[in-house]
Amino acid sequence: MLLGSGELGKEVAIAAQRLGCRVIAVDRYPGAPAMQVADESEVVAMADPEALKAAVRRHQPDLVIPEIEALAVDALAELEAEGITIIPTARATAVTMNRDRIRDLAAGPLGLRTARFAYAESAAELAAATAPLGWPVVVKPVMSSSGKGQSLVQGPEQIAAAWEAALAGARGAGARVIVEEFLRFELEITLLTVKQWDGPTLFCPPIGHIQERGDYQCSWQPAVLGTEQLQAAQAMARSVTDELGGAGLFGVEFFLCGSPGQEEVVFSELSPRPHDTGLVTLMGQNLSEFELHLRAVLGLPIPEIRSLGPAASRVILAAAAGSIVAYDGVAAALAIPETQVLLFGKPEARPLRRMGVALARGDNELQARQRADAAASRIRVSASR
Ligand SMILES: Nc1ncnc2c1ncn2[C@@H]1O[C@H](COP(=O)(O)OP(=O)(O)O)[C@@H](O)[C@H]1O
Ligand SMILES: [Mg+2]
Repeated sequence: MLLGSGELGKEVAIAAQRLGCRVIAVDRYPGAPAMQVADESEVVAMADPEALKAAVRRHQPDLVIPEIEALAVDALAELEAEGITIIPTARATAVTMNRDRIRDLAAGPLGLRTARFAYAESAAELAAATAPLGWPVVVKPVMSSSGKGQSLVQGPEQIAAAWEAALAGARGAGARVIVEEFLRFELEITLLTVKQWDGPTLFCPPIGHIQERGDYQCSWQPAVLGTEQLQAAQAMARSVTDELGGAGLFGVEFFLCGSPGQEEVVFSELSPRPHDTGLVTLMGQNLSEFELHLRAVLGLPIPEIRSLGPAASRVILAAAAGSIVAYDGVAAALAIPETQVLLFGKPEARPLRRMGVALARGDNELQARQRADAAASRIRVSASR
């Protein structure tokens, strides 16, 4: 049973069905991408513990695979206690849902290098907490994803607005923010890390990516990284995933800061599930992040994770809102060699909502990225009511 049925869940569902699994897709709205390919689906308020428990108990799935962050995590703990397997574990979904719990774990007992940070529960506390960090700072609600409620604050006069934006963008009622020093990083990467029930932890080649407005815009794989930096990232990813336990693929995010060749690797955050920047693995690897997640949770062997050569992705965003959605230029995009286009079939468009992705391989990183960019730019997603 997939809890969350977006484009990443859709690929997990396809991978599961290829292995003969029966898939139940759950999300808050009908017609969600994974529901289009699942055997059954349920529309449920995902943050409502009673509704979530009722749906899971009705189906008695062998595995519950969360695909989104905003879930009634206490309900998952209860279900786990009843003997239902939650991937990777109910505790891991709870610890990673809010920025403070995972950050406290990473920067505290695990001793990982992170951006300097503090927490605040009012505008006044935020102003005080910011002082030792230096300008600019990044303010984020502890409960939020996709950049919601996040601001870059250049000076004291912007604190009040950042506090208000965080309150407005937070998920749930909590009025708590994390404030971090702004890192002028050279590169940010996702290290897809596969934790097995019974076997060594495996790593995919690192994925470079660029974020705008809190959402990923493009990614490429393999990202060029020094041996020492890669080993440092792998050691941190192993440490944090070992601590969280269970099995499955994790998207572990890092910043690379400093001068080329001498970069310091800084832990940012992680998701205990496939990562959007990892869509590139559909073309970049022998086994995609979705197939790896499935194999790991089912306890199937993963003999090798291999790069198929430079690959890249570029998101395809909607231009307008509406439920009558049209895709123009798909043929022109697919005329580019070594290129694929995924259109997620979301029933509702909103400006800047991710509706698809272009994927490409190339002889080198530049060519792969140019192909993915060109393919995405040829597609226009228009919408009307
Ligand atoms: N301390 C920071 N310094 C510089 N950029 C940051 C910092 N924190 C976040 N960002 C940027 O904002 C993006 C989203 O932040 P992140 O903490 O990953 O939140 P989300 O859960 O929304 O993905 C990051 O991928 C990065 O590009
Ligand atoms: Mg992130």
